Amino acid sequence: MTRALVVTGGGGVGKTTVSAALAVAASRAGLRTLVVTVDPAKRLASALGIALTSEPSPHPEEPQLWAAMLDATASWREVARRHADPEVTERLVDNEFFVAATSHFPASQSYAAAEQAATYLDARAWDLVIVDTPPASGGIDFFTAPAQMADLVGGRLLRWLTGARLPGRRFLFNRTAKPMLRLADQVMGANLLERIAEFLMDLRTTYDGVAKRARQIERHMRTASTLVVTTSEPAPLREAVRFFRALPEVASPPAAVVFNRALPETWIGAQAPPGSDVNLAENLERWAAESFRQRTARREFGERYETSIATIPWQSHPPTDRDALAAMVESAQGLPPLW
Ligand SMILES: Nc1ncnc2c1ncn2[C@@H]1O[C@H](COP(=O)(O)OP(=O)(O)OP(=O)(O)O)[C@@H](O)[C@H]1O
Ligand SMILES: [Mg+2]
Repeated sequence: MTRALVVTGGGGVGKTTVSAALAVAASRAGLRTLVVTVDPAKRLASALGIALTSEPSPHPEEPQLWAAMLDATASWREVARRHADPEVTERLVDNEFFVAATSHFPASQSYAAAEQAATYLDARAWDLVIVDTPPASGGIDFFTAPAQMADLVGGRLLRWLTGARLPGRRFLFNRTAKPMLRLADQVMGANLLERIAEFLMDLRTTYDGVAKRARQIERHMRTASTLVVTTSEPAPLREAVRFFRALPEVASPPAAVVFNRALPETWIGAQAPPGSDVNLAENLERWAAESFRQRTARREFGERYETSIATIPWQSHPPTDRDALAAMVESAQGLPPLW
């Protein structure tokens, strides 16, 4: 059976780095592991050492490691292809409103990532699929994206515009929407009405497929293990809190909350030897205070949300190769067994 590990959390906390590091560690522990990264920094991609495309590629030197990258545009084409007739798919992906909706719909990248991940899980070709999540998803949004997507294509707005049952094209808009769009056509001088009508109709035909797929993805999400990555800064911590508030509906409790870029606890109370340079003494005092603040934030979080807390130390140099990535996992404290 393929196990899924979703690595989520606020923007910039280290999700992609942690996903890659766990993937190297898991593959070296003997599991056939696929990591699906989202927009990895160049340095990280070269540290991993695999040409990243939307198709999983095996690592040339790590026999159990595969990696793929989420390509949101390609994934959307896949989504359309899967849920619409071929002719409709072509029209949809060419339609400017489809392009706009898929790039501006807030849950769009998350949904594309979730669909892609679900496809890999269904393939049953790996023991473990590690799913990095897009920055915009801010933790919980990755899990709520399928439902939001089903709402988008089957929701009230679309039904309001296209009628309760799938209507013929010429009955498309109700009396309120039509004059407004006519006016837009006159003002903008384009056949917007026709293009929007086409888009909405085509989108509407995908509803059954999307709704069914959304339910399958949600099942995968509920059974996946989750790691919430954060730092002890207020903004990422707020995302972690949002995750816990929305949890019961969409996912199982996380295996752990990982505080990344943690300063060593041994720095708490560090003091410069008597007679040291005054700048050095001041510096040590500041880092001791910061280390104390971080530990307090972790403890408070763990107690309030009754969750396991792990830490990954702050590295003075970002990992530049796979050994350094694996070492990052070894230096982690409090990580529960994940495979
Ligand atoms: N433990 C660490 N110590 C020092 N630097 C780290 C650590 N973990 C990650 N970083 C650095 O933090 C930066 C952000 O990391 P990363 O891209 O993995 O975050 P992310 O959560 O995926 O970001 P985004 O939300 O933009 O996708 C990178 O420069 C990375 O090298
Ligand atoms: Mg990232």
